[in-house]
Amino acid sequence: MYNLLKGKKGIIFGALDSNSLAWKVAERAHQEGAQIVLTNAPVAMRLGAINELGQKINAPIIPADATNNEDLNNLINKATEHFGSKIDFVLHSIGMSINVRKSRHYTDLKHDDFLKAMDISALSFHRTMQSLYNLDAMANEGSIVALSYIAAQRTFPGYSDMADNKSALESIARSFGYYYGKKSQVRVNTISQSPTKTTAGSGIKGFNAFYNYAEKISPLGNANADEFADYCLTLFSDLTKKVTMQNLFHDGGFSFTGVSEEVMEFFMDKE
Ligand SMILES: NC(=O)c1ccc[n+]([C@@H]2O[C@H](COP(=O)([O-])OP(=O)(O)OC[C@H]3O[C@@H](n4cnc5c(N)ncnc54)[C@H](O)[C@@H]3O)[C@@H](O)[C@H]2O)c1
Repeated sequence: MYNLLKGKKGIIFGALDSNSLAWKVAERAHQEGAQIVLTNAPVAMRLGAINELGQKINAPIIPADATNNEDLNNLINKATEHFGSKIDFVLHSIGMSINVRKSRHYTDLKHDDFLKAMDISALSFHRTMQSLYNLDAMANEGSIVALSYIAAQRTFPGYSDMADNKSALESIARSFGYYYGKKSQVRVNTISQSPTKTTAGSGIKGFNAFYNYAEKISPLGNANADEFADYCLTLFSDLTKKVTMQNLFHDGGFSFTGVSEEVMEFFMDKE
């Protein structure tokens, strides 16, 4: 351990069970000396295992639906009260699409469900930052991170409306990052993570194909959840104070590899 986050205080959204990317970040942030408040949608309190995590890392759990401004304001007020100070870092690790869950084809999406997915997966990031900003709850030089996927830049059949949500999410990081940097040197970034076996990940049609293909293309192989947590901590630490408005690929080199020798071999003898 490096005591990278000693004395820092953060809110972590989206730990559902021990596979969740947010769960790993919470555990690692705690090991690095941070104090944490956990949050998730009220329904996740019943379905998931967040209480177990709360006990393990001594973190209070404050439910909040990330599409509800009142819930977000309440969460942020209670968190600053609990910490007795402003917030140093926030992880937005939230995603959900009913169209994806129901395997609806992209050319036949239900638009009510599209709007809901956009609100949960992208606009909730704006809502969260707007609450933090208006309540003046972020400490100077704080750090805010959300989770993205390369389908924001390139098409992956089956990822459906989540691709559009991720594009919006990355754009919101840039737009809010500008204003938050000006206001109080707060940095805002997204991390674009390799396919990872979690509840949200495994809900995508063809997930195993994405996962195995990326594993074969990436020179370093897919990044797993523990490696994601390590990378995320660097963005919360004081070592990255001038990194902002970026979409940072944490994918073993997948995003910049055209083809790998393994994939070439597979196609070599095909006519
Ligand atoms: N698993 C992957 O392959 C992968 C790859 C790249 C990016 N991501 C992104 O990582 C993030 C976390 O997903 P995960 O893979 O850890 O899966 P996960 O299912 O463990 O986490 C998703 C979380 O979103 C929460 N959530 C859903 N609706 C909410 C709402 N209205 N308010 C508050 N929280 C809500 C869920 O309760 C859950 O905790 C998502 O943004 C996902 O798109 C995942």
